[in-house]
Amino acid sequence: MLYSNDNPFIPKLGRIINIVNETRDIKTFTIELINQEMEFYPGQFVMITVFGYGEAPFAIASKPGKTRIIEISVRSVGDVSNALHKLGIGSVVGVRGPLGRGFPLNELEDRDIVVIAGGTGLLGVSSLLWYAYFNKDMFNNIYLFYGARTPRDIIKKNDINEWRKKFHVYLSVDRTDGLPWDGYVGFVTDFIDLVEVPRESLYIICGPPMMMKVAYKKLVNKGVDLAHIYVSLERHMKCGIGKCGRCLLSNGLYVCKDGPIFRCDILPEREIE
Ligand SMILES: Cc1cc2nc3c(=O)[nH]c(=O)nc-3n(C[C@H](O)[C@H](O)[C@H](O)COP(=O)(O)OP(=O)(O)OC[C@H]3O[C@@H](n4cnc5c(N)ncnc54)[C@H](O)[C@@H]3O)c2cc1C
Ligand code: FES
Repeated sequence: MLYSNDNPFIPKLGRIINIVNETRDIKTFTIELINQEMEFYPGQFVMITVFGYGEAPFAIASKPGKTRIIEISVRSVGDVSNALHKLGIGSVVGVRGPLGRGFPLNELEDRDIVVIAGGTGLLGVSSLLWYAYFNKDMFNNIYLFYGARTPRDIIKKNDINEWRKKFHVYLSVDRTDGLPWDGYVGFVTDFIDLVEVPRESLYIICGPPMMMKVAYKKLVNKGVDLAHIYVSLERHMKCGIGKCGRCLLSNGLYVCKDGPIFRCDILPEREIE
């Protein structure tokens, strides 16, 4: 754990050592923990503090394991993310975590996995994809269906090119806006009907609320067992450790402590957003 004096509310410090502009409004930050290591599992997240502005949760998007260096990618949407976007290399931020339970790897091992990700939803599954990339013999086929609004909204292009070497990757954009594009034009959820995947595959959905709902409904209509569908949920958070109740679901589980990944047979359908 990466807690100061065992107090889970006091962040440790990390220094930004690299920044990549992914799209018009998304930047990837590489953060080196100062005199610290953390061990994180696929699907876990951190609370990042921008001092003077506040704290917000972000998925750890890099290769999991024991490390001093983590990567997060952030869309500028509000107070903390806008402030983060204004920081430069060398700036110091607070880091609490790793938080959440992440993916149930024991359930995913030896299975065919279909990841359906939309927009920044790719970030919630990036650490799992890196885990599968480096431990490919632990899984059967991995399919990645990833969709963005336009070609210029595709994030993590280098990572995707690397994943292509081991996974079946299908990319879509909603519209091309006249930009060069040789992939599919349409919604990422269309791949559910267009691409044949092994029966009994496990499905992981991560993306904007409407995309998650459509993907979930399509899978259910196809007869996929609810126990074979996982969703990664986003909720407003404060404490990140199951104390404040901000992210409490109607089934009594907390997104921060028990999630953010949930199997759909234990999740009321109305929570899939
Ligand atoms: C587990 C988890 C992982 C996340 N990972 C990432 C990530 O990797 N990259 C990334 O860019 N974002 C991620 N987010 C979303 C990010 O935490 C929110 O966008 C956060 O509000 C940004 O803080 P802010 O202060 O910049 O925005 P705020 O000022 O808090 O809010 C800006 C706008 O976003 C809305 N909003 C805030 N939080 C949420 C939420 N959880 N769901 C829906 N709408 C919200 C607000 O209502 C407001 O309209 C994640 C969220 C969770 C819960
Ligand atoms: S954020 Fe406080 S309980 Fe989840």
